[in-house]
Amino acid sequence: MKIGILCGGGDCPGLNAVIRGAVKTLAQTDTVVYGFLSGYKGLLEGDYIELTRDAVRGILPKGGTILSTTNRDNPFHYGVEENGETVYKDVSDELIAKAAELGIDCLIVIGGDGTMAITHELALKGLNVVGVPKTIDNDLSATDRTFGFETAVNTATDAIDKLHTTAESHHRVMVLEVMGRDAGFIALYAGIAGGADVILIPEIPFTIRGVLQKIEGRKKRGSAFSIVVVAEGAKIDGKKVLSGANEGNIINPEKLGGIGNAIAAALHEQGGLETRCTVLGHLQRGGTPAPFDRILATRYGVAAAKAALAGERDVLVCLRNDKIEAVPIIDSIRVLKSVDPDGELVADAMAVGISFGREEE
Ligand code: F6P
Repeated sequence: MKIGILCGGGDCPGLNAVIRGAVKTLAQTDTVVYGFLSGYKGLLEGDYIELTRDAVRGILPKGGTILSTTNRDNPFHYGVEENGETVYKDVSDELIAKAAELGIDCLIVIGGDGTMAITHELALKGLNVVGVPKTIDNDLSATDRTFGFETAVNTATDAIDKLHTTAESHHRVMVLEVMGRDAGFIALYAGIAGGADVILIPEIPFTIRGVLQKIEGRKKRGSAFSIVVVAEGAKIDGKKVLSGANEGNIINPEKLGGIGNAIAAALHEQGGLETRCTVLGHLQRGGTPAPFDRILATRYGVAAAKAALAGERDVLVCLRNDKIEAVPIIDSIRVLKSVDPDGELVADAMAVGISFGREEE
């Protein structure tokens, strides 16, 4: 058998652990493994490395991906240079022909919602695929956890811990903007773990007045500083804050970013508070994966390899009640997972005094 592996979308901690888990499992069989470089582009251009046991030695704790990745290069909307201009074409047929030419029996695709949407479309056109759910955002509904999320939460929690000491020294309001796209999981988990005073997420509408109420209340009780954690996809005055567009990306065209500074400015203008904003950005995607992510990623890699060998197709390996299962990819992309505003975690956060920026909470 010949099995291909590729990564799609943004990187996240644990990609190498998945690759290693799959390769080590497949190495015990009579299988040749190709690792395609830079996502679907590598398959289209026949750009790959052979993934042997030696090729994956020592990569378990390494962040990033030895295969590199991209969130452009969608084969259904593929940018090619023509007469000095970028034009977008559907090259999915060429891609499937290339997989056949290389003799790929099954392709293991490690990606988030955008990559899985593309992968499912390719499966419908006849490409044999098995998916692995990756994203720091944890927003894939089919799985209890995506790998990478835990590490991102650790990084964000560490940032909150550090902001606490300086906020307290200077009697300031510190705003921390974290990633997560349209889901507030990173902000919610890190906010609870780091003891934030206010958590602002896309799933819960808030007002600046509501945030000020909480900060003023703390001041009255003797705490002259506050920590506000805001998810990049939260909406100020009902609107998301964008830092630009993801060129050529028709699945996720918006580049989020900037709400932290907008919140800090509004708290200063409307409440006269001394504020500072930290945008954590891609630090959340880098570095060595947390043990939980290494274990989960390894389990996903092993499960994906086994599913590919067993002839399962168009499925995503998922974590459900601490068991790895394979479910149809379509189930993971129909509805994105988001924080339940009426759920236990939000209620528990409120029970320990965290505000979600609603007035008179
Ligand atoms: O989906 C993962 C993610 O890190 C989001 O949280 C964030 O909005 C986005 O990717 C950033 O993407 P890029 O690396 O293209 O800036």
